[in-house]
Amino acid sequence: MQSAVLESPATRGPSNTTERYAKCIETSKRIRWDIDRDVIRGREFDFGKKFMPDGLSKVRDLPFLTPAEARFFSHVQGRTYANMFALVERYIGAKTIELSKGHALGDQVALEALIRFADEELKHQRLFRKLEGMAAQGMPDGYTFVPDPNEVADAVLSKCNWAVLALTLDIEIFSQAHYRASIEADPQLSDLWKDVFLFHWKEESQHAIMDEIEWRAEDARVTARQREDGVTDLIALVRSVDGIVQAQAAADARYFIACAGPTYSAVEKALIEETFLRAYRWQYVVSGAGEPRFAEVLKSLATPAQMERIGTALAPIAAAAA
Ligand SMILES: [Fe+2]
Ligand SMILES: [Fe+2]
Repeated sequence: MQSAVLESPATRGPSNTTERYAKCIETSKRIRWDIDRDVIRGREFDFGKKFMPDGLSKVRDLPFLTPAEARFFSHVQGRTYANMFALVERYIGAKTIELSKGHALGDQVALEALIRFADEELKHQRLFRKLEGMAAQGMPDGYTFVPDPNEVADAVLSKCNWAVLALTLDIEIFSQAHYRASIEADPQLSDLWKDVFLFHWKEESQHAIMDEIEWRAEDARVTARQREDGVTDLIALVRSVDGIVQAQAAADARYFIACAGPTYSAVEKALIEETFLRAYRWQYVVSGAGEPRFAEVLKSLATPAQMERIGTALAPIAAAAA
């Protein structure tokens, strides 16, 4: 399987962008999967198993939870994971269609690759909506997903291309970190959820290659002033993601505390709230930025002063996710 995120700069393959797009098409066709035939395969969620792996959920920081409560903790996070991806893929799909138009009368290989990319994101949204429905069937009433996908997409797409492509590469690369966490040996982890991480990552690997190509192309088009504005927009976008994560972590902590069973002490409640937020900051903000591939591309495009601006702005979020 072609995996962009595991490649080193020296082995990344063809430098010509048309060839790289052609490789994405080839890999995309080879690994193409179907929601029902390959991922779901007639299975229901087994609520006796965990949905989110411990490495992502941070459940080990709550040693006072019983095994059943720890499982429920992972179910809440898994449900939010499905909703968060359905959310970001709304704007990513729209942006990819917009980018494809730039190739409509030009590089037909790039056009085909980006259309496949957009089609895959539509499929991923369908998958995650389906997972949300399946999760809802086996979980108590009262769960809410706070942000609205279209409102978020509107807000993201109002920012400049340089920043939107940076955020998108970050998101598509963090599926690598999430997949890696899901393959840690853990017999308590749901097989269906393991497959969700695996199959999603397979297609996200191609998306990350195309994000990088498009981001570098945009970077070559912008002026120094526009790049500076791009950095400002990127910082604003990451702070917006953190705002979404804070609101959802608070909602999920309330739901968990109300439905998990026991009456927790004030100290335990505070720890539960803090762990949801730390886990979500790790999953949706920090894990992508920490992937060497993302840092390498960002460093090659931003000036040292801009890298410092980004680092300073994001340090408090990174520290809070540690
Ligand atoms: Fe996706
Ligand atoms: Fe993607």
